[in-house]
Amino acid sequence: MENLTRPRLDADRCTGCGLCLDVCPSDALALENGTITLSREGCFGCDHCAAVCPAGAITIDSVSTGNLTLATVETGGRWLPFGEFDTALLVRLLYSRRSCRSFTEEPVEKAVLEDLARIGTMAPSGTNSQRWSFTIVPSRQALLDYGQLIGRFYERLNRLAANPAARLFSRLFMRDRLGHYYRRYHAQVEDALRQFSQAGRDKLFHGATAAILVGTEPGASCPREDALLAAQNITLAAHAMGIGTCLIGFAVEAMRRDRSIQRSLGIPGTEDIHTVIALGKPAVAYLRPAGRKPAKIRYAFPSKT
Ligand SMILES: Cc1cc2nc3c(=O)[nH]c(=O)nc-3n(C[C@H](O)[C@H](O)[C@H](O)COP(=O)(O)O)c2cc1C
Repeated sequence: MENLTRPRLDADRCTGCGLCLDVCPSDALALENGTITLSREGCFGCDHCAAVCPAGAITIDSVSTGNLTLATVETGGRWLPFGEFDTALLVRLLYSRRSCRSFTEEPVEKAVLEDLARIGTMAPSGTNSQRWSFTIVPSRQALLDYGQLIGRFYERLNRLAANPAARLFSRLFMRDRLGHYYRRYHAQVEDALRQFSQAGRDKLFHGATAAILVGTEPGASCPREDALLAAQNITLAAHAMGIGTCLIGFAVEAMRRDRSIQRSLGIPGTEDIHTVIALGKPAVAYLRPAGRKPAKIRYAFPSKT
């Protein structure tokens, strides 16, 4: 989808109320002689003008609420205006979501996985670029094959990090990145690799039966933020659907450093993967929410210059 797009106006329907002007973030609309006109080519297709128009006079062809229709969730097409959702219920969902690290072998239906990807696209994105890609690894076997690729990357990295000369080089020329990895992760990763090779224990994906990799295509203004917001939508919706999720930063790091993993998954090299979400039917039931550190809150009153 192009970022720059153009609203289409049904002049017969337009009453010139001007509500669309108030919500347009890019001043792409103007009111002239009681009718809305397109004032310049700044529109990035946020669809707010169409959403607010009481006469239904505006259409943006590049987007459609039809793309948000889900196969496994019936929303009745209902839209909740500001303040009309049960806040306590939402907060309960937020604090009930847990990273799940124990899954049954029961697969997650493809229709559910695809719906979760669509739910991802309901997130905000920088300049409404919507350049997400969702790569679904749909089965336990596919996830094991993917895990092998990640495992091979960490075997190589661990060999390198165990080499004192390589760590010295890194300390002198690479801000000690390898040394940091060695001290923080080497033993943990070595143990995970051993547990997998000796006992088939999957410490990477925790026995999940599927994964959704959230990436972005070129052109996104805030690619990582876009991907993480989509991922949060997915983890919350999955929880509501009875599906456990866990973000797998180890997989993201491996894919960032070894682009051949991405190629093996058939993901175009022009895309970047920012989040890997392992999913499955949970084999654990949490009895209470996990605690959190206190929120650090401050007020800011900038000094006048
Ligand atoms: C960016 C990111 C990367 C993560 N990577 C991993 C991972 O590789 N393996 C894992 O088991 N958990 C991973 N987690 C899950 C965190 O450990 C988890 O979110 C944290 O302990 C808080 O627990 P909660 O998700 O149950 O609230 C990751 C979380 C985030 C946000």
